[in-house]
Amino acid sequence: MLIALLPGDGIGPEVIAEARRVLTAVCGNKISFEEAPVGGAGYKAAGHPLPQETLDLAKRARAVLFGAVGDPACDGLERRLRPEQAILGLRKELGLWANLRPATMFPELADASTLRPEVAKGIDLVIVRELTGDVYFGTPRGRRTTETGRREGFDTMRYDEDEVRRIAITGFEMAKRRRKRLCSVDKANVLETSQLWRDVVIEVSADYPDVQLEHMYVDNAAMQLVRAPAHFDVIITGNLFGDILSDQASMCVGSIGLLPSASLRDWRGALGLYEPIHGSAPDIAGQGKANPLGTILSGAMMLRHSLDLDDEAAKIEAAVAKALASGARTADLGGTTSTRDMGEAVLAAL
Ligand code: IPM
Ligand code: MG
Repeated sequence: MLIALLPGDGIGPEVIAEARRVLTAVCGNKISFEEAPVGGAGYKAAGHPLPQETLDLAKRARAVLFGAVGDPACDGLERRLRPEQAILGLRKELGLWANLRPATMFPELADASTLRPEVAKGIDLVIVRELTGDVYFGTPRGRRTTETGRREGFDTMRYDEDEVRRIAITGFEMAKRRRKRLCSVDKANVLETSQLWRDVVIEVSADYPDVQLEHMYVDNAAMQLVRAPAHFDVIITGNLFGDILSDQASMCVGSIGLLPSASLRDWRGALGLYEPIHGSAPDIAGQGKANPLGTILSGAMMLRHSLDLDDEAAKIEAAVAKALASGARTADLGGTTSTRDMGEAVLAAL
């Protein structure tokens, strides 16, 4: 089964290298890899953050394992050529509308959370973020100069009912298999888009009588995530709110370096893109300081959701827990273990 490896920029290549070693150790010749440039690296190699050959490879592969994009050297480029356009383009081109971002507390890391241990204890939630709509992709958008000569910028927040319904179904299906609680996050007290979102989620809930549904405004959700994060099971939300809340949730469990994600076009799996939720961290790139666990765990999600290799996925997850239990900690977790040695610790635990 072919996996497209897209390391990208900054720490992307370092963390992808460790994930590749772990995946190879666990899956042997059941999988093969092909690598291609993306982001700033894509721009340097082929003049575009998402070169056509990279996109073709992603479409041909069974799954995509993605590092990170973002390169300060590209800040001056026009928006369509910036590294971030690579990931937005892949999501759009591959139709990956469902983004699963689990945040689970490893007991070994209770001291790494910025929350008090009794607050952080037992966090086990998954954010289902809509990924191809909302203000990220809504039109019209742009910059213009008004009649009075002032500059203005504008974006459009927009969802249609089908886009909301499939996310709601994804959330309910996941909740059904977990603790049966679903929290839908919106801003329905202010936004029309959110009122439609809420109406559709309520309609879908009729098919899931065993799942307990609650609605929460996004500002309150941000507060509850640091007040009582263990309260949450499955959260569904739009693209922008999900972007923000998932960074916040990552910190509750210790470090953004730990969190994997899956971007899917069907909650049952099929082609998917897997990436750590952290960025390219140019400030520590090339120094062997990055935490590869988010990428390694993304690899495990990939095995489970796109490759039907559940046992292999569980092996990787157990090895990560064991590596942490052995005391290995990268700098983001307050330790001195290098990227490579963290990969080694996971391999040893396998
Ligand atoms: C993420 C990132 C991306 C997003 C950026 C890099 C475009 O922050 O995956 O969360 O906003 O979706
Ligand atoms: Mg983000």
